[in-house]
Order: sequence, then C-alpha cells, then structure tokens
Amino acid sequence: MADQSRTLPEPDWEANAAQHGRTEFPCGITVEPVTPLIGADVTGIDPTARLDDAQLDALSAALLRYKVLMIRSGGRWLMDVGEHTRLCQQLSGHWGIRADTPQKRLNASEGLTVHPFLPWRRGHRHIWPTGSVTGGGQQYRLRDSEDIENFEPFAAQKDRGAAPKPARRDAGRRRSAFRPGSFGSAALAQDSVNNGANAFHFDDGFFHQPPSAVVLNALVLPRVGGDTLFADMGAAFRGLHPALQERAISLTQTMDWRHTFPIWEAEAARRDAGDPFALHVEQLIHDYPPSTQPLIRKHPVTGELSIYSNLGFTRHINDVSAHESRELMGILSRMAERPEYQVRLRWRDVGDVCIYDNRITNHYAVADYGKVGPRALHHVALLGEPTEDADGRVIG
Ligand SMILES: [Fe+2]
Repeated sequence: MADQSRTLPEPDWEANAAQHGRTEFPCGITVEPVTPLIGADVTGIDPTARLDDAQLDALSAALLRYKVLMIRSGGRWLMDVGEHTRLCQQLSGHWGIRADTPQKRLNASEGLTVHPFLPWRRGHRHIWPTGSVTGGGQQYRLRDSEDIENFEPFAAQKDRGAAPKPARRDAGRRRSAFRPGSFGSAALAQDSVNNGANAFHFDDGFFHQPPSAVVLNALVLPRVGGDTLFADMGAAFRGLHPALQERAISLTQTMDWRHTFPIWEAEAARRDAGDPFALHVEQLIHDYPPSTQPLIRKHPVTGELSIYSNLGFTRHINDVSAHESRELMGILSRMAERPEYQVRLRWRDVGDVCIYDNRITNHYAVADYGKVGPRALHHVALLGEPTEDADGRVIG
C-alpha cells in the first residue's frame, strides 16, 4: 500500500461535497457522496475496460474517503469473470498488495483471495458466487446453474433431508445475547432472514491478513430488496467513550473459522476416518489456525483507527475474563448498528459494481428478498496486508 501515497490526488472532499455535491477528477471520474460519512456513487468509469493510472488513483482516493463505492451500470455493462478479475488485479497491483506470506500464497489464485470454505467458480477459485436466495428463502439454489467446485458440507446435509442440528458448542453460543448468528450453521437454515450474512461483519477475519477490499458484481437482482448496509467502523470507534477507546486499543482478539463455520467440523465428525471430506477439514485446521488481530486497527494507508471486530469471526478477546470479553464484544458490535455510521446501498441494475474497504467497514446483507426473487452476486476479495494496532505494531 505504500505506493498509493505517492500518486494520490488530494481533492478537498468536504468543500466539493458542500459546494457541488460531488468531486470531479480530470480523468472523467465523478464521485458523489451518498451520506456525508460513508458511501459514494462513482460515474465516468467503465469497469469492464482496463483502467489507466489516473483512474486507479481517483478510484483509490474515493475509496479511502468514502470507504464504499457503487459504480452504477445503468444496464450498460455486465462484467464477465475475466473483467471482474482484471479490475481486482489492477486495484491490488496499484496498491502494491502481494501474496507475500505462506498463508496468502496458499489461498491466492490469480493474485486474489480464495475462500477455503465456500464454493468457487470452476477454473476461477477467487470467484465466490454469493447471495443466492430464491423464493422460499432456500440458499444456494442458483449455484446449481453455475459450474462450481470445492469441498462443501452443505450438499451432504441437504441429502439427509432436514436441516442438521448445529454442533452442541455452537448451539450454546447462539443462545448468547451477543451472538445473533453463525455463518456456518445459519447458512443451512431454510429461512432467508437467518442466512448469516445478515449480521454486521467484515470478511474473512480468520486469515492472518484478512482481505483489504472486496469487489462485488451484481448478476441477478430481485425487483426490490436485497440492499447492502455498510457501517463506517472508524466513525464507530470515534463514537466510543474515551475510556472505552483506551481499553479497546490495548487489547487483541482471536478470530477463528471453526467458530464461524462450525458445520465443517460437525460434518467431518460424522464421517469415517480417512473420508476425503474429513481429511480436508483436518488440513484446513492445519492451514488456517486461529488468527490474532488488534481489536482496534490502524488503517494501513490513512492511519484512521477503527473497531476491527465482529461477532461472526471473533471467538474471544484475549487476556480478559470471559465476562469482559462478551461484554466488550457486544458493545463494539452494536456500534455498527447506529444509522449515523451507515449507508444503505440499493442495488439497482444488473452489472452494478460495489467496492468496499474491508479494513474499516462492516457490512450486512439485508435478507428481505426470499419471497421476491433471486439475488446473485460474484464476490472477489483482494489479498490482505499486515494488520497493525493503534501504535503501529504488526499483530496479524
Ligand atoms: Fe460478507
């Protein structure tokens, strides 16, 4: 990311927004804020084309300022897999992000993040087809129409008929007032209002360096519904009482995919020894041990501090009592729920592209469209960077 500061233009965002409602770049890109704090619509750019340095500078500057960008297609384009990949690679290259750790090399494809626990497009391991819910709220039905692969416990569960019981450990957690849902077990629910993505989180906290940004591409949209909420976790941090800020700054947390996706181990436990799925889960446990992360992260480019925690991935806060861990996690996660820190983005047209800074936002996929129609997006995550605490110490 060090490369960014060299070339970034420095518009007076606040003055432009106040006087003109937008910021215009010489390269033709226009950025129009959706709220004063977070979220902007970007026009004057065609994401299906290769971008030049001036466009990448403008897009990067806009993302750093507004944290979430929406590039509206207006029905004029629909990125294919290759164009989506190129856009992500261009951003990643512009920011100087590389697969420079053993774990990142393990989970990288074409220089982008591979999600080890979710299905990917065959031949394009970095493409995650997501958000597919059809009438009745059944998950993943649209995936049947896409050529996907990866080990997956869901199909086996479905074959058995009824939704499986979650692992006993998870069942206990779900009774907690501080844990609204688990991605893994909840993803099996037949009710679209409990699909796991409808809880505030940032993506993939289980990696030792979670993705820096995500680019979503809308393939199928319901007529209404299926909005995505984003919360500015920098503003959320500044909204904490100073004493709480100080306490949180001093702490780290443990993030763990086994906490997020308990179904993997539960399904492996049902298999015989030597079963390919069970062996795969053993390998995942080896390759993706729990990650230690700062509770308050310093943004690698802007230096802004933010709440870097969410109930989906955080197993516990380190070196405090279980009671304080639960209490603090509850307080921090609820900060994302304040409307003043949020933007609600409505997907308008197939081909709409959303870019979000995964280092400083939380998001929530509103699951209100189960009876309206399907919704399918392609999700690509850029690789991550070292995570630093408020004092600049590298933690993850
Ligand atoms: Fe997500």
